[in-house]
Amino acid sequence: MQYAKLNSGANMPMVGIGTWTLKGDKCRESVRKALEVGYIHIDTAEAYDNQEQVALGIKDSGVERDKIFITSKVWKTNLRYDDTLEACDNTLKELQTDYLDLYLIHWPNDEIPMKETFRALTKLKDDGKVKDIGVSNFTIQHLEEAMSVTETAISVDQVKYHPYDNPNDLLEYCNENNIVVTAYSPFGKGDLFSDEELNKIAESHDKSLAQIILKWLIQKDIVVIPRSSSKDHLKANLDLFDWEISDDVVQKLENLT
Ligand SMILES: NC(=O)c1ccc[n+]([C@@H]2O[C@H](COP(=O)([O-])OP(=O)(O)OC[C@H]3O[C@@H](n4cnc5c(N)ncnc54)[C@H](OP(=O)(O)O)[C@@H]3O)[C@@H](O)[C@H]2O)c1
Repeated sequence: MQYAKLNSGANMPMVGIGTWTLKGDKCRESVRKALEVGYIHIDTAEAYDNQEQVALGIKDSGVERDKIFITSKVWKTNLRYDDTLEACDNTLKELQTDYLDLYLIHWPNDEIPMKETFRALTKLKDDGKVKDIGVSNFTIQHLEEAMSVTETAISVDQVKYHPYDNPNDLLEYCNENNIVVTAYSPFGKGDLFSDEELNKIAESHDKSLAQIILKWLIQKDIVVIPRSSSKDHLKANLDLFDWEISDDVVQKLENLT
């Protein structure tokens, strides 16, 4: 596994499992399978309505809490100070844990002053309930505003990032400001699997199309959180660390936007 260093000094595994749309037993089993094949990083959110099943999947796997990096997110209607504190307590309860490795604002909400939310996130960090704080779906303008209202380091921006949606200006801004970028929907929720150019690249590397996309992102120092319920796909999506894609292939992927 490779890691991204966060502001707290914590190591964030570069590959995690996404859990959006996974519910009930399907979620529980996917999380168990992922941990069994070697994942140590799980992405969830209060809005996914699956945190209790994530906790059960972790329990089933037998992997200890302190070996796993867990990210959750506060929904955009819960960004008032008291609401954020309460949302975090609910999430901790549902996940059966007393801390989150990373807690994100799921979406910006212009109707609630960011200062208020960051005051709550800072308290959660000071209280040891979350190790790092961050944001999701924030543009450069949102990040500028966020950094102007808080002294607490923003460790991560989780955004949509894949070959058709490649916000390199945001990545550059985050790199300059010590913010790790996490790519969500790396396969465009599955839409990229029929791309001819990507299929050709994958064939010529003797890798799957999914692996080529994930490797391209990791080589850009972007954390990835692909979702899968298939043990074979989960294994393949983790098999990324003893090979490289060349500069000319990277360029081809960059040009697919
Ligand atoms: N912050 C946000 O606002 C936000 C928004 C969207 C998503 N996210 C996070 O990002 C995660 C990932 O994004 P996503 O759920 O939108 O979808 P995604 O990871 O882009 O795509 C998931 C689809 O790809 C398939 N797949 C996975 N690995 C494969 C492989 N090796 N070969 C072939 N097919 C494969 C899966 O099917 P199988 O199950 O059959 O493998 C599934 O249908 C989410 O689950 C969530 O945790 C965050």
